[in-house]
Amino acid sequence: MCGIVAYIGHREAYPLIIKGLKRLEYRGYDSAGVALLTDTGLNVYKKKGKVSDLEQSLGEEQLSSHIGIGHTRWATHGEPNDRNAHPHYSHTQKLAIIHNGIIENYGAIKLNLQNKGYAFHSDTDSEVFVNFIEDIQKETYCSLEEAVRLAMQEVVGAYAIVLINREEPGTLIAARKGSPLVIGVGEGEYFFASDATPIIEYTNEVIYLDDFQIAVVREGELTVKNIENIVLSPYIQHIELELEAIEKGGYEHFMLKEIFEQPRSVKDCFRGRVNADEGHLVLGGLREYLDDIAKSQRIVIVACGTSWHAGLVAEYVFEELARIPVEVEYASEFRYRNPIIKEGDVVIAISQSGETMDTLAAIELAKSKGAIILGVCNAVGSSIPRTTHAGAYTHAGPEIGVASTKAFTAQVSVLTLMAIAVARRKGILHEDTFRRFLFELERIPEKIEKVLKNAEKIKEISALFSEARNFIYLGRGLNFPVALEGALKLKEISYIHAEGYPAAEMKHGPIALIDEDMPVVFIATRDQSYEKIVSNIQEVKARKGKVIAVVTEGDKLIPTMADHVIEIPITHEVLTPLLSVIPLQLLSYHIAVMRGCNVDQPRNLAKSVTVE
Ligand code: G6P
Repeated sequence: MCGIVAYIGHREAYPLIIKGLKRLEYRGYDSAGVALLTDTGLNVYKKKGKVSDLEQSLGEEQLSSHIGIGHTRWATHGEPNDRNAHPHYSHTQKLAIIHNGIIENYGAIKLNLQNKGYAFHSDTDSEVFVNFIEDIQKETYCSLEEAVRLAMQEVVGAYAIVLINREEPGTLIAARKGSPLVIGVGEGEYFFASDATPIIEYTNEVIYLDDFQIAVVREGELTVKNIENIVLSPYIQHIELELEAIEKGGYEHFMLKEIFEQPRSVKDCFRGRVNADEGHLVLGGLREYLDDIAKSQRIVIVACGTSWHAGLVAEYVFEELARIPVEVEYASEFRYRNPIIKEGDVVIAISQSGETMDTLAAIELAKSKGAIILGVCNAVGSSIPRTTHAGAYTHAGPEIGVASTKAFTAQVSVLTLMAIAVARRKGILHEDTFRRFLFELERIPEKIEKVLKNAEKIKEISALFSEARNFIYLGRGLNFPVALEGALKLKEISYIHAEGYPAAEMKHGPIALIDEDMPVVFIATRDQSYEKIVSNIQEVKARKGKVIAVVTEGDKLIPTMADHVIEIPITHEVLTPLLSVIPLQLLSYHIAVMRGCNVDQPRNLAKSVTVE
């Protein structure tokens, strides 16, 4: 939530920051702002709305500067308006701050500052933070970085901040706890951002700042310290991120591009891991833990949103193949219970961004109870992979559209590989079945390609339902989480109310909703519950509901009952979600576009949720 960008060096800071903010808009787009140090002083420009609204509002302003900070906001404290937009000045306007995160004890600090005569011009916790820093500096006559360090010892919550100081034009100060912060190291220039996407155009050398670290750039030199004031030697990492991976590449929206990228992203996920000819399945990052997982009595999966749905698919797959009991928990619920975790239990955290606050907190809790923590993440170098014992990246590449698509199929792919590997290690997966899995896995990308060929037909179906007010999604077994995911995609981007249910649960409530205006999407592929779901379709038709069915190629029966049918190729039952989810992604995409919604940046949402 919230994206931050800052620059200090020889380039023009303003265009660079604006471009960077546009890349980070997936993190929030309630307001945007920049602060630049120019000949006329420290100037803040901010505006409710998107980065482009800010750009337009500035028109021909003279904005030449080589040092600046910028922010794109997902509102937490205070409604989205100009006043609450970042950057925030301190009381004397000597400092300006950009902040991603939440300061939980800001109320008490604010009261204290108000008693000392500080006036506030916004409702944000961030304005309190910058004034707190200024006040410490005033009271103790210390340097600004020392004031930041002392403030960090007092504030409770999460933050990535960058400060700019009118009185030190060659200096930028950044700090982090809980929210991500990457520093790009160029030739005599430094970039700060919430992720590497604003940076890679200029340099591939980056430092991922850790919690309780402070970075200071002064007169072209970078120093990183910890909260004990000890100077550190940060690890400079070389990242391989192609610019085209974060651009639209001719598609109208990132979401559509990402849906169509899935044959490639799933292939990338299998690359070097699956080899059917040689009968190999290797997950390098898990090698040392495979025995522990195989011996574990229980696996707990923690995740949020779409990643939680991937976890539900994994529950079926692990139990089916590896015969280990699995529980799937919302990270936010898990962390606030007193969950029973025993030493040796395996906890798998799934997260596209690798930054979700609740998932991170769930990991810390499980770790403190002695569990083995594994991560399944997409964003390389993000916080979750750095806190887990081991894990496997999904290799889907950057996902920019707020609604998750290719990250989901990549998560399911990795989790399936894990389940197969564990089953194999336990000695309960026969060589022939194992080989058949590998063979079938290698065919998944081309089968996804085939599903994508139905895009036009799905668009036509979408046109018939774009005005619907409600939708129900039903599936059984592995297709139940797919139904949940289909419903989530639709509500996220089209704002149509949609619910996913296990098909058999329909008669315990949702059936009351069915009439001639209710579209019901069935994920009804050929599997062990096929006959049962056929009955469920009939139950809906008997009540005049409109049925859209995702079926296995060649199905002769369901097309005689359903109003609309979308075929997917046959595959192993366990791998079906990798195919059956694709038509649902396209359905929600087209419906949202037809309704005139902003599919890449749906209202109220953010891609990376770094607040509770
Ligand atoms: C947000 C995003 C979802 C995502 C969820 C979990 O709500 O909009 O698309 O599924 O966070 O995020 P994670 O990065 O942990 O997978």
